[in-house]
Amino acid sequence: MDSVSQNLLDWYDRHARSLPWRVPPDQSAKGVRPDPYHVWLSEVMLQQTTVAAVKSYFEKFLRLWPCLTDLATASEEDVMKAWAGLGYYSRARNLKACADTVAAGYGGHFPTTQADLIKLPGIGDYTSAAIAAIAFGEKAAVVDGNIERVITRLLADATPLPAAKEICRTEMSRITPDDRPGDFAQAMMDLGATICTPKRPACALCPLNEHCSAYRLGTMEQFPVKLAKKAKPLRKGAAFVAIREDGAVLLTKRADKGLLAGMSGVPTTAWTASEDGATGAEAAPFRVPSGVRWTGCGTIRHTFTHFHLELEIYRAADLPMGFCTPALDGWWSSATALPEEALPTVMKKSLSAAIPNAFKPKA
Ligand code: ADE
Repeated sequence: MDSVSQNLLDWYDRHARSLPWRVPPDQSAKGVRPDPYHVWLSEVMLQQTTVAAVKSYFEKFLRLWPCLTDLATASEEDVMKAWAGLGYYSRARNLKACADTVAAGYGGHFPTTQADLIKLPGIGDYTSAAIAAIAFGEKAAVVDGNIERVITRLLADATPLPAAKEICRTEMSRITPDDRPGDFAQAMMDLGATICTPKRPACALCPLNEHCSAYRLGTMEQFPVKLAKKAKPLRKGAAFVAIREDGAVLLTKRADKGLLAGMSGVPTTAWTASEDGATGAEAAPFRVPSGVRWTGCGTIRHTFTHFHLELEIYRAADLPMGFCTPALDGWWSSATALPEEALPTVMKKSLSAAIPNAFKPKA
């Protein structure tokens, strides 16, 4: 093993983060492997989401569906409800499709190589390498954002991302050891998260500082070089919170394609990533009975991958029990059912603007 790998694994043995999907390094060094279901679930959740945000969702999923076959027998609707708030909802649909495929086509056991894992729904280069290395001990080259930062600094390579990805993969392939490749990948991730941070890296504490070209040159913060990001446009729209006299709220299911596909929410105007929607109360997609009025509850802001969104929130309260909006195909969700609905964060913000205690735990 070369000294980069040795130094890093020694550091990991002392400083590995304790995370619910991991086997601690003392056991892992003896050949104990984590459950592939746990590794897959955590790695899908960790695509585009932070460790801090993922922990509680990971634990909730294991409570609801302790093993892969449990998840395969769950309804997609229940999986979407449990995923609500984590974002990038196509991941949840792919998660369910992958569970179904592995249950039906692989006897409930994940394939054990990167080459076979990558054929499954929702599993790409990164996730297949991570599962193969961590769950099955394959010497696969795992490269995520943290690892890109560590490697471009080690090499002081100024090739801008995303072109630098291939360079990082080649270097990761070169330095990944035959023994404990999964621990090595996770050690690189931990180093990126705790020492080799984007700003003010703690190089004095770094187990790889003697190998690091950027450290030698004092140019750590210049890496990785990234192509200038496009500025995100600001889109506008309106959302309408209709409340019945028993406190239930009108929800609808969003279209199966496009942003927040298949998730639940309050009715809105037709904003998209590329077009504004109307912002006034008169643009409500249904009429309320005379005597009831839409009142403004302010503006909420939310940022998606490609745009910022500003929504004007309107509320109409005390709608009669018989009130219905056939054109919308919605349903009334009671105050107790609301927190269990498949509501993305932007919808929770909209509802909270109109009903301040909607998501506060009940005493
Ligand atoms: N980010 C993605 N996968 C991870 C893992 N296994 N450990 C820590 N951070 C991660």
